[in-house]
Amino acid sequence: MLEQNFSLDGHELDHDHRVMIDIVNKIVSLPRQFLSPLYDKYLSQFIDVSFRHFDEEIRLMRHNEYPEVGEHEMEHENFKRTVLALLLEGEKEPNYQDMARYLRSWLASHIKWHDRHYVLFMEKKRATAHRPSASEPESNR
Ligand SMILES: [Fe+2]
Ligand SMILES: [Fe+2]
Repeated sequence: MLEQNFSLDGHELDHDHRVMIDIVNKIVSLPRQFLSPLYDKYLSQFIDVSFRHFDEEIRLMRHNEYPEVGEHEMEHENFKRTVLALLLEGEKEPNYQDMARYLRSWLASHIKWHDRHYVLFMEKKRATAHRPSASEPESNR
């Protein structure tokens, strides 16, 4: 189970992350003995939400001139490629557990490290923008 405590402090991306974690938890909790029909349903929900989320995240990063947007986009693209490869593989031989494991571990570390890095960048950026510059006369502050 993924815990819902990957909060990025009320950041606008948090909502999507919570939805994504929730869907992955549903996938992870499916019975392992047989292929549940819910698997396809949850998986396509996850793909819809996450791929749309990635576009939005990259758009925000570009807008805010995040210097690591290129690497971040690459992370998303690699993830998409792996998910699609696992999907194809799963058509030949069911690989529900590999998929569940991969989604869970990728999502946890991506939100915790890569998305978090962007949030820290934004916090710093906002703090700098709100600090009155030392050269400004007191009366203009
Ligand atoms: Fe991301
Ligand atoms: Fe994200």
